[in-house]
Amino acid sequence: MTTRIAVATEPGYEVLVGAGVFEFARELAAPRDVLVRDSGLPEALGWLETSGAIALPPGEEAKDWESLGALLGALAHEALDRSTTLFVVGGGAALDLGGLAAALYLRGVEVVYCPTTLLAMVDASVGGKTAVNLPEGKNLVGVVRQPRAVFADTRFCASQSEAEFRSGLGEVLKCAVIGGERGLESLEHDAAALAKRDAAALERTIARCVRLKARIVERDPLERGARRVLNLGHTFAHAVERVAGFGRVPHGVAVAAGLGAALELARAAGVLRDATLPARVRRMAKRLGLPASIDALREEFSLALPPRKLLEAMRHDKKALAAQPRFVLPERAGKVLHGVACEPSLVERVLAPKRKRAPGTARPRRA
Ligand SMILES: NC(=O)c1ccc[n+]([C@@H]2O[C@H](COP(=O)([O-])OP(=O)(O)OC[C@H]3O[C@@H](n4cnc5c(N)ncnc54)[C@H](O)[C@@H]3O)[C@@H](O)[C@H]2O)c1
Ligand SMILES: [Zn+2]
Repeated sequence: MTTRIAVATEPGYEVLVGAGVFEFARELAAPRDVLVRDSGLPEALGWLETSGAIALPPGEEAKDWESLGALLGALAHEALDRSTTLFVVGGGAALDLGGLAAALYLRGVEVVYCPTTLLAMVDASVGGKTAVNLPEGKNLVGVVRQPRAVFADTRFCASQSEAEFRSGLGEVLKCAVIGGERGLESLEHDAAALAKRDAAALERTIARCVRLKARIVERDPLERGARRVLNLGHTFAHAVERVAGFGRVPHGVAVAAGLGAALELARAAGVLRDATLPARVRRMAKRLGLPASIDALREEFSLALPPRKLLEAMRHDKKALAAQPRFVLPERAGKVLHGVACEPSLVERVLAPKRKRAPGTARPRRA
């Protein structure tokens, strides 16, 4: 099966999702086009013929100035002209770099994305954001520019490490909450099959997330307002990633825990209107093997994550205004508010460790 989703941005494009859609990308490629690939992709994918491709450093290593310069140099070396399309095969990092290089080379050539991780299929390949990192921070340099097409071949998910696949599932859980009752019900239905990477469940789930993101970025391509709801759980997640040290907790896993924290804060701040939502999200997180709170993350990764340090990190978040963190908080599934300012004391309460000490580790009571 193949699912096609039209994204009505300016310009518009199609996202094809399903097992085998990489073949369609291959058919679309003209002889003058160029293949760029993440060198961290396993060699053993028999159907992935990428001889002659320009290799990028694996994953996040690709997202720096040096790799961008090297890729632009390779394109110039081949004397490619404006009629060339770049086909980028890789995770979100490769797409972010390849998309930026395509936007810059000869002031812009077209780019086709072939995402190879669940996270890149549900998130990075749609919406047109591209970026590289600076030593001062992640994603500080980039442009918004839509691709010519996206081919999300679910077969790639089979070779992802468990940690990387779980990271994608965290963004899937976030999408279900933003997607409303139907989003939640569909994920409840597919969670068990999805955790086993079943092809049909993957296709349905990726298609749902892509449709959701498409409808949001169509209204707000440059993230002036509505698109911010996609950052649900991210103020907490970014703080956790920063305090834990980047790379320690996979991004989407931090997002799942951040989603739990956002629900707690929404309840504490009186924003949450559906009291059943937190428990429902916790149940689903459990089925997907994801932490549903900052505490669960502390336990899994043996991290202290002191509340004050997390709060301090939030003040540096890109979305903070005048050093006041802004939150994306759910009112109920399908209704998410953005730009909400909350009392620091309330946030600190949400961030405070709540787990009781394990039996045997409790301090002895005074007689
Ligand atoms: N542009 C956007 O809108 C957007 C959205 C979300 C995330 N991002 C960016 O995406 C990046 C994260 O992307 P990611 O989670 O895909 O990770 P990634 O691109 O860093 O890849 C993670 C690892 O998996 C390897 N890999 C890729 N595909 C594989 C496969 N099929 N089998 C086995 N290994 C594979 C890579 O070589 C790498 O080592 C971040 O840099 C983030 O900023 C961008
Ligand atoms: Zn994210």
